[in-house]
Amino acid sequence: MARLWFPRRCVRTSASTRSADVSNGSVFTDIAAKYDRINRILSLGRDQAWRQRVIDMLPEGRLLDLGGGTGAANPVFGGRSVVALDPSPEMLGLNSAGRRVVAIGEGLPFTEHSFDAVFSAYVFRNLDSVEGTLEEVARVLRPGGRLGVVGLSRPRNRVAAAIHRTGSSIVLPVVGTLAGARDEYVYLNRSLDKLPPPEQMFAATPLRRVSLWRMGPLGFVYGVVLEKV
Ligand SMILES: C[S@@+](CC[C@H](N)C(=O)[O-])C[C@H]1O[C@@H](n2cnc3c(N)ncnc32)[C@H](O)[C@@H]1O
Repeated sequence: MARLWFPRRCVRTSASTRSADVSNGSVFTDIAAKYDRINRILSLGRDQAWRQRVIDMLPEGRLLDLGGGTGAANPVFGGRSVVALDPSPEMLGLNSAGRRVVAIGEGLPFTEHSFDAVFSAYVFRNLDSVEGTLEEVARVLRPGGRLGVVGLSRPRNRVAAAIHRTGSSIVLPVVGTLAGARDEYVYLNRSLDKLPPPEQMFAATPLRRVSLWRMGPLGFVYGVVLEKV
């Protein structure tokens, strides 16, 4: 497998600052080996179908998997040439993509127009700056290229959101404790309330919105596809 590339622009901080420091990927350092299995259990086996629905709307060619982690999406990228980017070398170390780059979405170490598509699954609520990342994605996409995002949020309906908030505040710490990573899963629960709903977050971006939809139980998962004009 190709070696990890650490571009000069990516400055990593200590992995020991894990609960506060998310954008260097350190929250995911300790759970890297268990991440895929836990994700599959928590999504009741649907996580790949949610990725696939977005990937089906992306062009062929060169694709950047932003926050690609362990490479869970690799089996559904088809014949695309994949570059996986993630700040966590531990997550990337498990990724089978041909090219793996240790960096963050807010500072992409690539030239303009270098990708036909950018994909990002379950990453946006971990970003330090959604705005900065979208600007970077717009820069590296070619005109007509697309960004596809799968993310987790709260359900739109207030009652459903309250039920979901209560449920996740009980289930995620329990799963985290069983997995030996309680702090990480408490963080993951809190991060669900960090961002505005996707309908608001993707209303005005440097990219044109093609489609946005809700999926999963109570609609707590969203998919969005944006295009560079
Ligand atoms: C929940 S995992 C998702 C991994 C993978 N995309 C998937 O579908 O399974 C979130 C990933 O986002 C990465 N991440 C955290 N902050 C990031 C940032 N600022 N830029 C890019 N990736 C980031 C983490 O290291 C982690 O691998």
